[in-house]
Amino acid sequence: MVVTLSVIKADIGGYVGHSECHPDVISTAQECMAKAKKSGLLIDYHVTKCGDDLQLIMTHQYGEESTKIHRLAWDTFQEGTKVAKKLKLHGAGQDLLSDAFSGNVKGMGPGVAEMEIEEREAESVVIFMADKTSSGSWNMPLYKMFADPFNTIGLVIAPNMHAGFKFEVHDVKEHKKITFTSPDEIYDMLIFLGAPGRFPVKAVYHRETKNVAAVSSTQKLSHIAGRYIGKDDPVCIVRCQGEFPAVGEVLEPFASPILVEGWMRGSHMGPLMPVSMRDSTPTRFDGPPRVVAIGFQLAEGRLVGPRDMFEDKAFDLARHHANEMADLMRRHGPFEPHRLPLDEMEYTTMPSVMKKLSKRFIPID
Ligand code: F6R
Ligand code: MG
Ligand code: MG
Repeated sequence: MVVTLSVIKADIGGYVGHSECHPDVISTAQECMAKAKKSGLLIDYHVTKCGDDLQLIMTHQYGEESTKIHRLAWDTFQEGTKVAKKLKLHGAGQDLLSDAFSGNVKGMGPGVAEMEIEEREAESVVIFMADKTSSGSWNMPLYKMFADPFNTIGLVIAPNMHAGFKFEVHDVKEHKKITFTSPDEIYDMLIFLGAPGRFPVKAVYHRETKNVAAVSSTQKLSHIAGRYIGKDDPVCIVRCQGEFPAVGEVLEPFASPILVEGWMRGSHMGPLMPVSMRDSTPTRFDGPPRVVAIGFQLAEGRLVGPRDMFEDKAFDLARHHANEMADLMRRHGPFEPHRLPLDEMEYTTMPSVMKKLSKRFIPID
């Protein structure tokens, strides 16, 4: 059976501040989704949140970028925004950058990751959702899952994975894309992947079967709006088992937290901390950035789950390390490398302060 898995998310208001999504907003979204399921538009759905982002996980048979599905998501966010406004939540409707829907939510603020797949005999998927960071944050984890044999031993010992994977990489500045073949081209690929703010991995494909293995949201809110209006807080869908990395190989990169862009005012580097759904509430200095993972088995499009994958105690040490890394970074206060370089900060006073002081700058002899 061919089924499409769509994950569409938006921050339509935070509670309190930017730390959480209000239960009434979630239940409103659930009502919208339930209606769509009843009408036959959706096969199934799961509504959840990560930090202040509302997450709509939907299965259907209308393919990727379907106007019907994107309209449903847009209308759901509009309904949620009404509730957010009534409760005077912080930044109500903040990611909805347009007043009118024009066929596709891409470029309108929400983040989107979708894959149309032929459902396998057993279709295990993990959906990653992050808050207080940006789409490039998936670069290192995806590289480790699909190209690093020290993470994914299957690349070495599983015959159905031994040929490797292809990586579709986007240049979000130039609006171009390129596909690399791994392992052959990893040295070329890493010069790009190592600059995740500009070159996020959009998708990964099995090299032999050409089947899609992973897709991520790469929408850059600041590029869309032309000004800062919030971090992208990305999502990523990963298929697991069989010709793809095992669930444990897919989760393993998050056992060693890395520093990512985001955190307070989208202007800092901080550790990406893997947490349970319950703990996706970034409150220390509006962070540190969080990632949650929920797993499903698909059954004719039905979402069997979710399982809260980072609830496992085996990730306690990663959380501990992430908190230590957070302390180390916080020690720098407004200094780099905690604060992002001048041209990458989402909030800045530099132009106005520079203008004010311009006359006081005199040549150095
Ligand atoms: C970062 C984030 C928060 C806000 C900060 C200031 O992605 O959402 O750290 O940037 O709380 O928010 P405003 O400007 O809305 O008061
Ligand atoms: Mg917010
Ligand atoms: Mg958010």
